[in-house]
Amino acid sequence: MTMTMTTKPKSPQKKVKFLTYGCQMNVADSERMAAQLKKIGYENEEDAGKADLVIINTCCVRETAEEKIYGKIGELLHLKRENPALILGVVGCMAQKEGEKLIKRAPHIDFVLGTGKAAGLNETVTAAENKSRAHQVNTEFADSGDEFKSFARFYPTEPKVSAWLPIMQGCNNFCTYCIVPYVRGREYSRRPEEIVAEAETAAKNGCREITLLGQNVNSYGKEYADTNFADLLRRINAVENLRRVRFMTSHPKDLSDDVIRAMQEGEKICEHIHLPLQHGSDRILKAMNRRYDTARYRELMQKIRDNIKGAAVTTDIIVGFPGETDEDFDKLLDFIREMRFDAAFTFLYSPRSGTPAATMENQVPEKEKKARLTELMNLQNEISLEINEKLRGEVLEIMTEGESKNDPAVWTGRTRTNKQVLFPHGAEKAGDFIKVKITAPQTWILKGERLAEQNG
Ligand code: 5AD
Ligand code: SF4
Repeated sequence: MTMTMTTKPKSPQKKVKFLTYGCQMNVADSERMAAQLKKIGYENEEDAGKADLVIINTCCVRETAEEKIYGKIGELLHLKRENPALILGVVGCMAQKEGEKLIKRAPHIDFVLGTGKAAGLNETVTAAENKSRAHQVNTEFADSGDEFKSFARFYPTEPKVSAWLPIMQGCNNFCTYCIVPYVRGREYSRRPEEIVAEAETAAKNGCREITLLGQNVNSYGKEYADTNFADLLRRINAVENLRRVRFMTSHPKDLSDDVIRAMQEGEKICEHIHLPLQHGSDRILKAMNRRYDTARYRELMQKIRDNIKGAAVTTDIIVGFPGETDEDFDKLLDFIREMRFDAAFTFLYSPRSGTPAATMENQVPEKEKKARLTELMNLQNEISLEINEKLRGEVLEIMTEGESKNDPAVWTGRTRTNKQVLFPHGAEKAGDFIKVKITAPQTWILKGERLAEQNG
């Protein structure tokens, strides 16, 4: 056999810039894509202008997200003009949804990779580097879960004090407004041993907090006889050196008593649950295909509050779902007053083509939707402030995260209930646990003072 010299110049370090939109699942996916790309010589770069590869990890849950992303893709054209060797890839939910359409609208894109194809990212990037395939589009969906599972194994090796850990992917619920089941496919779960092993590795590398991620974590493990979400929580709670365990997102219809028990018993499992309500009118909940009513939600909330001391509950609400009347909206406001959420993420209903709600009659006029959203936000802000005001003077343990956005002398951390606390920085390192006294509670954040040197 003759030896052939490879002529392809190997640049010592290739650089990738990720632009990540949407939920924490996408943030976690970008981290795992970066870990995968490391194997073919890419390191992360902050400045897109210096990158050899730009990857846009996309969201399509609302139209506003898509518009923003199309705008960003347009902006990147100038980089491609300056550096024609730049590779531009679009991945994630909107890549899955739009496919070829993306290239038609923006021919400067080199590849479009769907959500089921993330495990093949390196192969796609290598083909783009070699110019062996122009405009690669791959949005096939094997729908076996194998691709997700092999992709999830690209464990990000950079030490982090707080880590995302995807445990499952997809959604089987088909709420009538939601595009997620179409772009993320059916629910598939990773094996618990694998998840625990990852948590152990992370903890050994200095990680103190893990957030288990999935579109619907409460149905974790449905395909296995030997586990479920409560079991997984218990196993993660037992991982040495971890201090906090979080999870999201929960679906009210699947939140079992056993999960509540696991939260109550597991000393590392934080007293916070994100439990999307979506609406407070039973008629609308039915039309949304949520498969619970306000009575069931109320019961769940009672169980959470009775069993998990000091639990914070946050939620998602959609206003302006088709057919929402003034009466439905009033019911929503009343239910919000009754539930007293710590915080709510509120959204204007956005019709997503291909979902049942998009073609329902009685779409609510935009102006009406906006007026309702403002009213809802004002109410929730009042409630959040009242709840946070009760924390004035309290001493809480926070895990420090790092500098706040606006002032390097002010650091940010989180309480176990997931409230953000701003405090004047002393000698802390990210990942330290300190006690702070809350001095100025606000609607979305708490301001505090550190008590004493107390690292842990
Ligand atoms: N319009 C507005 N909000 C939506 N969400 C999901 N689909 C839509 C839509 N079509 C919201 C839900 C979900 C959150 C992640 O996004 O409240 O919980
Ligand atoms: Fe969408 Fe409903 Fe699934 Fe959440 S549970 S991802 S809202 S379909």
